[in-house]
Formats: sequence, C-alpha cells, structure tokens
Amino acid sequence: MQPKKIKENIYWVGAIDWDIRNFHGYATQRGTTYNAYLIIDEKITLIDTVKHYLYDEMIARISAVIDPSKIDYIVSNHVEMDHSGGLPKLLELIPNAKVITSPNGEAGLKAHYQSEWDFHVIKSGETINIGKRNLSFVTTPMLHWPDNMVGYLVEDKILFSNDAFGQHIASSERFDDQYPFDIIQEEAAKYYANIVLPYGTQVQKALEPLQDLDIEIIAPSHGIIWRSQIQTIINAYRKWSSNETDHKAVIVYDTMWNSTERIAYAIQAAFEDIGVNTQMRNLKTVHISDIMTDVLTAKYICVGSPTLNNNMMPNVAAFLTYMKGLAPKKRTGLAFGSYGWGGQSIGQVEEVLAGLGFELLDKIKLQYIPVTEQLQEAIQKIKTGYQS
Ligand code: FEO
Repeated sequence: MQPKKIKENIYWVGAIDWDIRNFHGYATQRGTTYNAYLIIDEKITLIDTVKHYLYDEMIARISAVIDPSKIDYIVSNHVEMDHSGGLPKLLELIPNAKVITSPNGEAGLKAHYQSEWDFHVIKSGETINIGKRNLSFVTTPMLHWPDNMVGYLVEDKILFSNDAFGQHIASSERFDDQYPFDIIQEEAAKYYANIVLPYGTQVQKALEPLQDLDIEIIAPSHGIIWRSQIQTIINAYRKWSSNETDHKAVIVYDTMWNSTERIAYAIQAAFEDIGVNTQMRNLKTVHISDIMTDVLTAKYICVGSPTLNNNMMPNVAAFLTYMKGLAPKKRTGLAFGSYGWGGQSIGQVEEVLAGLGFELLDKIKLQYIPVTEQLQEAIQKIKTGYQS
C-alpha cells in the first residue's frame, strides 16, 4: 500500500473501495475512494479518514511515510462515516491528537462515536498554523450535511473540498490528467445530481470565496484529484447550482402491457420533431441514480406510469420520491400513462411534478391500448404546448 505524493510533503493516504456498488441507494458501478491526505510539517496533519473497514489500508499508506503515532492534528471536514469511520481506531492509537472540526462537526462526532476527544473547534475563516504552512477553513453548512467545512492549504494552494467536486470512481490513478476525462465528468455530474443537487444556494455561496483563491489543486474526498481541469469543474458547479438546463427531455416510465411505453415513445417522437434531444429511461432497466444524472441537465422531465391498484407503479413512486428529495428546479414536467379504469396514477405523477414547482405540459392519459390516432394527437398536443 503506497501513498501518492500530491506535492512536496503532502500525500494521498486514502483507500480504494473497488467493490462498493450501492452507496446509500446510489448505484456506484465504478466503486469509489475515500481520500485522506497527510501533510508533513511541524504539526503532522491528517485531513479526514476513510470508511471503517478500510482503516488498515489507510494506516498502511500513512506508515509508508511516517509512524502514524506522530500525527498531531486530524482534520474532520465532515462527520459522515465514509470520512470519519477511521477516527475511533486512529484515536485509540493517538489519543492526544487534536481533532479539528466545525462546531456542528464536534456535535456530530460526539453523537456518532460518544467521543471525548481533544477537539479544536474552528470558526469559519479561521487559519491554523502547522509550521511552514497555514490551513484556512471555511464552513460550508448543508453542503451536504450541517457539519461540512473545507480547508485551504495557503502555501501549496490546495483546496481540500471534502464531498464537493467528488466522484465515485475507484482507480489507482489519482489525477484528472491520468484518467479518461469524459468518465470523470460523467461521474462528477452523477455525484452532483445525487448528493449535492438540493443545495444549489449553498453551492453558490461556497463558490463566492473560491473566486478569490489561487487554487492549484482541488483535493476532494472521493475519486480523482483536480489539477488540470479546475476551471471546468468549477464552471460545471456554477451551471448545475443555478439549475441551468440543456435543450433536452428525459422520458422516465414503467409499463405493464407496453401501453405506457407506447405513449413514452410517442412523446419521444414529438420532442424529436421539435428538435429537443431525448433520453428514454425505462425504470425496469435504468437505476434511479443514473436517471438523476439525466435530470441534472434536462429541461423537460416526463414521467409515465400505468395505474396499478389505484396507484402508480412502485418503480415510478420510488423514482419520484428520490427526485422529490433532490429537488431539481426550473423544469417543465409532463405526466403520462395508460390505464384500464381508475387512471389515478397519471394525476398522482402530475401532483408530484407540480409539487416540485415544475411548469406543466398537459398530461397524457389514454385508456387501455393507445391507437395510432390517439398517439398522434398526443404528439400534436406536446408540439402545441411546446410552442405556446
Ligand atoms: Fe462522502 Fe457526505 O460523505
């Protein structure tokens, strides 16, 4: 287990979770990493830890640089257990180390680990001297937990951004110029869509002070480290946090006897006719966390469900519940579906879309098996609604 040098006397000492495929409901087909960073200075400082079951991997990487018992400071930028899970064991080894965290971080760590560690609670904007270097901290509450903060290593121009700018990618490459960039971008978008999306206002607030910082490296707590494409990811966060969308429709549905699917493809044809790109997402085959990556930049969110026992299909309900929590804004919604008799599902879908504040196109509700004339009428209705 080798550390990776980031800069002189600064090392990545995290762990690679090659196997993880489900991160609290988020499908992580490429695994992930938990990034911890070690700074060798007069005060030896560790930034974050790793998930508890990868503690030994982190310690092995640290041990390749120094004796872990020499660590003076542990910065806990975020309480969530993928970054704090290694703390209890580490602090058994070095009980006198100071734990540097935000006020909410202290409360959260105590609640998680019933800990009485030696906390140094920072105020937002506070700078800590660790020898030749200075670490400045800014709290970033609700990005995405109340305790989050980021650290900036002034002399080396490194931003330790924790969850922000992360991606779930397991790889032995550490930098953005060493790994296929389109995959990094796709995973960064998926990460934003599934973790950060509800907190656009907080992202915009956090981006403000970054404008004035000279940043050479963004070292997030998951995935690849940014050093060549810093402006690209900052610009992407600006776009995503302002809910700016592309000329694109995502058509999400489940179907029982393929009637709702036929409506879905009619909708696809209508958008194609008016020059809007489309993405077809059958909930039987595409994971809801992947669909959220499409939702992130789609202007039109079309959701279809047949009626099953007076309700929408469970897959559709799960998707809508998930999307509701992630709260995309400034979208246009369209509910659709076929039904036998009750037909409640279409209204239920529309209610959720309306609850998200979406503008609505007229819903499409067709009984039993839609015939060609009905589908053409539906296509025309969308085109008219789009133009009006
Ligand atoms: Fe990667 Fe919010 O933890």
